[in-house]
Parts: sequence; C-alpha cells; structure tokens
Amino acid sequence: MFANQSSVVQTGDTDVESLVQQMTLAEKIGQMTQAEKNSIPPEDVTTYAIGSVLSGGGGNPEPNSPENWAAMVRGFEEAALKTRLRIPLIYGSDGVHGHNNVYGATIFPHNIGLGATRDADLVRRTARITALELLATNVQYNFAPAVTVPQDIRWGRIYEGFSESTDIVTPLGVAYIQGLQDQNPRVLASAKHYVADGGAKWGTALTYNWMSENWQAPGDTYQIDQGDAEIDEETLRAIHLAPYKAAVDAGAQNIMISLSGWQGLKMHAHRYLITDVLKGEFGFQGFTVSDWMGISQLDRDYLTSVITAINAGIDMVMVPYDYKTFIATLTQAVESGAVTVERIDDAVRRILRVKAWLGLFETPFGDETLLSAVGSAEHREVAREAVRKSVVLLKNEAGLLPLPKSARVRVAGRGADNIGMQCGGWTISWQGDHGAITEGTTILEGIRQTVGETAQVSYDAEGTFAEDETAAIGIVVVGESPYAEGMGDNGDLRLTDEDAAVIKRMREGCDKLIVILLSGRPLLINEALAQSDAFIAAWLPGSEGQGVADVLFGDHPFTGKLPFSWLRSIDQVPLTALKQHPDGPLFPLGYGLA
Ligand code: BGC
Ligand code: BGC
Repeated sequence: MFANQSSVVQTGDTDVESLVQQMTLAEKIGQMTQAEKNSIPPEDVTTYAIGSVLSGGGGNPEPNSPENWAAMVRGFEEAALKTRLRIPLIYGSDGVHGHNNVYGATIFPHNIGLGATRDADLVRRTARITALELLATNVQYNFAPAVTVPQDIRWGRIYEGFSESTDIVTPLGVAYIQGLQDQNPRVLASAKHYVADGGAKWGTALTYNWMSENWQAPGDTYQIDQGDAEIDEETLRAIHLAPYKAAVDAGAQNIMISLSGWQGLKMHAHRYLITDVLKGEFGFQGFTVSDWMGISQLDRDYLTSVITAINAGIDMVMVPYDYKTFIATLTQAVESGAVTVERIDDAVRRILRVKAWLGLFETPFGDETLLSAVGSAEHREVAREAVRKSVVLLKNEAGLLPLPKSARVRVAGRGADNIGMQCGGWTISWQGDHGAITEGTTILEGIRQTVGETAQVSYDAEGTFAEDETAAIGIVVVGESPYAEGMGDNGDLRLTDEDAAVIKRMREGCDKLIVILLSGRPLLINEALAQSDAFIAAWLPGSEGQGVADVLFGDHPFTGKLPFSWLRSIDQVPLTALKQHPDGPLFPLGYGLA
C-alpha cells in the first residue's frame, strides 16, 4: 500500500500513497509551500492548498497572548480543512528556548546554558514543556533544536548551540528531539541548520539583503552568519555531520537546511549533502525544509534558484513571503521538465507521512486545554532548575560564595533587573530587547526573594549608592545586549565601557565584589575577573532569575561546566586558533568550580 515500505514512521490509518495519487500538481506544490503568517490571509491557505504556515521571530498576534496565539494558528488550520482533500496544515515557529515568542510563556536558558548542565534528562524535560506550551497555541512544529557545533564565538548564533564539542551537542540534541516527539501529542522537531553553520569562516558572510533586495558584499553587515565553511569533508563529518546522523537514528523527521555554505556552495543547492548523504547514506525518511529566503539566495534568477533547490533535495520551502510567485515558478519548472514529477511526489510523500505520523489527520489542531499551563508555576520550576544547573562559577576567592542570607548586599548593573537582557535574542521579538518584555523573575527579584526579611538589599543600576561607608558585598550584573543571527556577529567581544565603569565603581564601594555575566558566549573578561572576588557566567538564563539566586546563596550547589573554551585574548578566535595558541585558554572547556 505504501510506496516506501521501509519507512520508519507509522502513518496510522492515513493512506499516504493514495492521497498522493489523488492530488493535482497544484495541490502537491501547495503542500511544499510554507508561508509567513503576516503575508498570507487564511483564505489563501484554502485557495492554494498550502501545506504549512509559520511565525518568524516575533511573528505574534496583537495583543500578544497565549489565547490570541491559539486563535491565530487555529484560523490557518481551519482554512486547510476547507480544501478539497482536507489535508491538515502544519504550523511552525521557533520555540528555541521555550515557546519564546509568546508573552507569558516559560523561557528556558538558551542552549549554551543547557550545554553547561550536561544534563540530557533535563534537556528532554525542557523540550517536553516547550512542546506542551506550543500545542496549547496549536503549533505542532518547532524549529528546534539547533544541533550546530559552533567553532567561532564571534558568531551571532553562538548561544543557539549547546557546545563547541560534538560529544556534548549530540546527546543533548537527541534528548531535545525525544522530548518534543516521544510522547503524544507530538511536536515535530527540526534539527538545524544542516550543516556546518557553526563552521563558517569569519568574513565570508554572503547574505541577501532583505530590505533593499540587493546582494550585500561579504562582511557588509553580517560577518560570519550565513557564511562559508572552508573545511574538508573529514572535518565536516567528524564535527558537524555527526549530530545529524544521531538525530536521524533517534527519529528526527525534519531537518532545516542552513543559509551557510560548504566549500563555496550554498547548502540550499547542495545535492550531495542533502540527497546523497542525508537521505541516502543516513536513511532520513522525513522532510527537509529550507530556511528563510534561503532559496532566493541561490541565484538572481528565481526560476534557476527554485530548480536548483528542489533538485538538491529540499522538500518544503520556507518562502516565506511571496508564496504565489514560488508556486507559479515551481509549476513552471515541473511543466518544463526541469523538476520531475517523481521529485515532487517524493517531497509530498515525505511531508504527508510526517503529518500522518504526528496524528494531524485525526487531530489537526493542538490542545487548547493546555492554555492554562503556559508559563505555569510547574513549568517555571523546571526552567529555574535549568538555570541553577547552567551557571558556571569561574572564580571564588577565599570561598566568598555561597553568601549568607543575612548578607548586606548592593546590587548594580544593567542586567540585574532586566528580564529582556537575561532572555537574550529570540524572545518576544526576533532580536529580543531590554526590560520587562515578558513575565518572569529578574536576578534582583530572585535575590530579594531568597534573602528574606533580615537581609538588606539595595539596588542601583549605575552602582551609585548614597551611603558613605563601603558595603560588605557588591553584586554586579553586566553583559551583552540582546541580539539574534548575524546582528550578533561581533569581532570585538569586550565588555562595554558602561559595564566596565559600573564594575569599577562597585569595586571601589564594596569590600567583596561578585560579577555575574549575562552573555550568549565567552567574552574578554580579564580585567573584570581581576577586579572581582567571585565571577559567574550565567549565559542567557531566560525568565527564571531565581535560579541564579539559588546558587548565590547556597540553596543549591554550583554544578555547571563550561560548554565552550573561554578565550584569553582576541587572537584566540576561532577555536582552531585557540587550540594552537601558546598561552592556552583562560578557562578550558569543562571548567567550573563547585
Ligand atoms: C524574522 C525571523 C527571521 C529573519 C530572517 C525576521 O524578520 O522575524 O524569524 O529569522 O527575519 O532574517
Ligand atoms: C533562521 C531560522 C529560523 C527561521 C524562522 C531564519 O532566519 O535562520 O533558524 O527557524 O528564520 O524564523
């Protein structure tokens, strides 16, 4: 009955093969189309028999609430059920650290922090909670996990990776996929970005400029994001391909293709790596999805781009805006014979098999009864656990930490009372933002809740306090402003002057100084480290700042271990340079005081 008897996915009662036989070319191409939600009215989902709709980063309803999300997504899903064959839609979004576009959702540490925990079971639980919060809003497809293995910390997507080490990335990536997929109802995981996005070379970024619709020269805005990995195949396989092999073996049914390239060829055009290696050698049975405008980047001529990408093995296309032109162009490519009907049928079969395996033909929506669980105390408790296990203690002179709860502390720094900064990019909006962007507990609030009545906590962001005498203990929270993707490419990696000034002021006003760094990556901290008595790398912990206070005051021990080597000087990037550098790292991979 099924064309591909070796398929590992169970499709239940859905007869995928007979559906494919009934479909017109237009219906097939519709299934292969993924449109961005603001670009497509629900009626067009019906008219064009669209297979998937997505929210990009910040693709939120107004006002942004879990209930409005559920209604928005349901509207598209209902539109798909009005098509001739009633093939259900699959709605996708980036739940890369919780269902992070949704106001009030539980926000987990970004993957770099989860990498510091080395705790696969914890990662599985964070993914399960993310799945429940996605399903509450009717989203059944999560563009996560990134199983990237970043080799250059200047990259703006560094924090989306669990570690610089394949051995750490692989089990955590697998655990995340299992957390989304291994229980009903399932959420489809997307392992991304295939492949070697983390292996790109600084200065090779070649990016389509979405605004002006012109190609930008390498390095104009982005420096490394979407760049080229100039590595040999042995290195590609050992470092970057290995997590995908493990993901496929663990049941991954979706892989997102990278906007980067390998040896000068963009991945979206890479037939060898997509069709021969992933689908052939690895036996991947699910469907591949292109990344945002990834196909448009292949050639100035859109027809050429579409033919190249589909023939390379891309099954679903994240267009994401001009779906009508995409549909017309792919139709033309099939009619001219440049793309075969067999290739189209293969793509559609893969998509429908996954939809059937997810149970969408029986349950075409998520589960709105879960709405009350979005951002629940129970979910936040797991995020808090993830935070306290992710923070890494880099310095602790004379056993300063943990602090007694009776301590008199001064708290300063722009990160101390700043949910947005502790969440980083991919939170509520694509780039993220400072301030009270969503619900949660700031680090300052966490400290206040932990110390209780007896202690005295004073706070000033700038570190200016009225009292003349020096305080016993100062805590400064500084770090990086939120960023996402190539906007975070950064060849400097120093603390800002503002942050350095607050640290200096607090050093002068306090007997003991604790610095907490909020960052998506290791930064150049030599001076701050020397000025501090204790130093904590807290990464981008998300909405539950209480987890930081849990270890500061000894309610829980420090257990986090560095997921990346920590650089000593800027000539220690990328990782290959650090490994050859005579001075060695400031702190090695795996470092972390107890
Ligand atoms: C979207 C993101 C997307 C980006 C691509 C933004 O407008 O919100 O989801 O990744 O564009 O550059
Ligand atoms: C990013 C992907 C993301 C997609 C949709 C792209 O720009 O590279 O990681 O899944 O946008 O938001």
